[in-house]
Parts: sequence; structure tokens; C-alpha cells
Amino acid sequence: MSPPGRPKGEYRSAQHEGNPISPPGRPKGEYRSAQHEGSPMSLLQIEALTASYDRSPVLHEVSLSVPEGGFIAVVGANTAGKSTLLRCISGLLDKTSGSVKFDGQEILRLPPHRIPELGIAHVPEGRHVFPDMTVEENLYLGGYTRRRDTAAVRRDCDRIYALFPRLQERRRQAAGTLSGGEQQMVAFGRALMLKPRLLLLDEPSHGLAPKIVEEMHQAMVDIHRGGLTILLVEQNTRLALSVAEHAYVLQSGSMVLSGPSNALLEDSRVRAAYLGL
Ligand SMILES: Nc1ncnc2c1ncn2[C@@H]1O[C@H](COP(=O)(O)OP(=O)(O)OP(=O)(O)O)[C@@H](O)[C@H]1O
Ligand SMILES: [Mg+2]
Repeated sequence: MSPPGRPKGEYRSAQHEGNPISPPGRPKGEYRSAQHEGSPMSLLQIEALTASYDRSPVLHEVSLSVPEGGFIAVVGANTAGKSTLLRCISGLLDKTSGSVKFDGQEILRLPPHRIPELGIAHVPEGRHVFPDMTVEENLYLGGYTRRRDTAAVRRDCDRIYALFPRLQERRRQAAGTLSGGEQQMVAFGRALMLKPRLLLLDEPSHGLAPKIVEEMHQAMVDIHRGGLTILLVEQNTRLALSVAEHAYVLQSGSMVLSGPSNALLEDSRVRAAYLGL
């Protein structure tokens, strides 16, 4: 299930400087995706990000890097701060410090409406569809910034239908009447209609039946193979590590470990201590 060319390597831990341990933030290029072999460029580079809702920080000096064309996961338990991390990238939190660079540009202080324009699409936790609009209207909303190019928007909508045939069957149905899994597909499809350079996915499998989880899983693999860069946050460690090339472990707002997904999965101590597997 993993993308081709998945590298092997040692995991790193934030707590143990030295070998095999170094801060999990900056990659040393060992997990470049097959599509971008040779490019050291990070599409998203987060350094020492701290974020709070009120006075106490929820994220503590978090660093992370997503290479262009990569598929990176952040796994962590309930309340670890996974959604908060994605909200920071999307400009939805005010109380932040540190740096979030997208394609070399600092975006941490940008207002939220500027983020999609840059090519970052965020599928938030839960299924946020417009319930009274049809499936197709929801998808077209995702292509709003490109609305003048109607032929391209139509083509992209057809691509979403090819990815999720069930949505085509239900394209005239009000999105609020769909099952949870189908609504997740709409949310996913709507984000893809933006034609993003980076897709942020917040627990796309949460609360879904195993068969739908498998469909979402396959959709993620397919769109990544198509060249899209993905940052996935998940409580479902097994799922995340089976699709992503490289993963970070977030614990109580701190990055405690990072490494190639296969290395994390194969290490029984890591599995027991951090991954709940
Ligand atoms: N709007 C908010 N106001 C105040 N505190 C918040 C808010 N949203 C989240 N928090 C707190 O921030 C911490 C991290 O929450 P976050 O939603 O980022 O965790 P998570 O890792 O996504 O958890 P889950 O797996 O349950 O989705 C939690 O302690 C939560 O209570
Ligand atoms: Mg969350």
C-alpha cells in the first residue's frame, strides 16, 4: 500500500540527541518521495512553532518538514495537538510564535483567506459539508477560485467522480443526506477541487466503517501517486503509517519522534511506547 520508492532508515527521537536521535523537525533528505528524487526542497517547513488558545501553550516548539511530493503523517493520541497544528498552517490561530514557511514564504501571520490562494487545502476534522447544497454544488464551491475556467472545473469535478464513483451517483442529492463516509468524500473532493499544492487532512477516517476507511485509504494513495503533497494527521496510527512515507509522533504538544513509517512500525519499543500498537 505504500508509495513506491519508500526509503528505509532509522527513526529519530526528540528526547535523545545524537544517534539515532536528533530533533524530528528537519529532514536530512532520507525520505524524499519517488516523484521528486533529488530535490531537497521542503514545500512546508515548520520551525519551533508554539501555539495557544488561551495562556497555556498547546504546541511546544514543534518543527516538521514536508518535502514537495511527500506524504507525511503526524500521529498522536487524543488532544495531542494534531488539529491545532493544521489550524496554525491554515492561519486559524492568533497566539502563535515560530515559523511556518510554504514554498519558502512565511505564512504564519497571513490571514486565513490567503492560505487557499497559495495552494493549501485543509480538510478539517468532522464532516464539514454544506448540508442543503447538492454534492455537485459542494464540489464546485471548492473550485470557486478557478470559477472562470468552467471547462477545467468541470474536468476536475469528473476526476473527483472517478476517484469516488459514489459521489457521481449522488451528485444531485443534498450533501446533508449522505452517509458519514460519503460526506467525508465530499469534503475530500471539495479540497481537491482547489487544485492544491499541499493537502492537509485531519483524521479522514475517523468514525467511519472499515470498508469506507479502506476507500479513503486508497483515495489518499492514489492522489499522492498523482503527485500531490499530503500532510495527514491521525489518531489511527496503523492507517497513517501504512499510507505515509514518513511520520512524526506528537505527544502533549511536542514532537517526540520522527522517522520513515516502516522503521517506526518495525520497532517494537516504539510501537509500544508511542504508537499504541
Ligand atoms: N478552541 C479551543 N479553545 C481552547 N482549547 C482548545 C480549543 N481547541 C482545542 N483546544 C485544546 O487544545 C488541545 C489540543 O487539541 P487538538 O484538537 O489540537 O487535539 P487533537 O490532537 O486534534 O485531538 P483529537 O485526536 O481528539 O482530534 C486540547 O487540550 C484541546 O482541549
Ligand atoms: Mg483533532
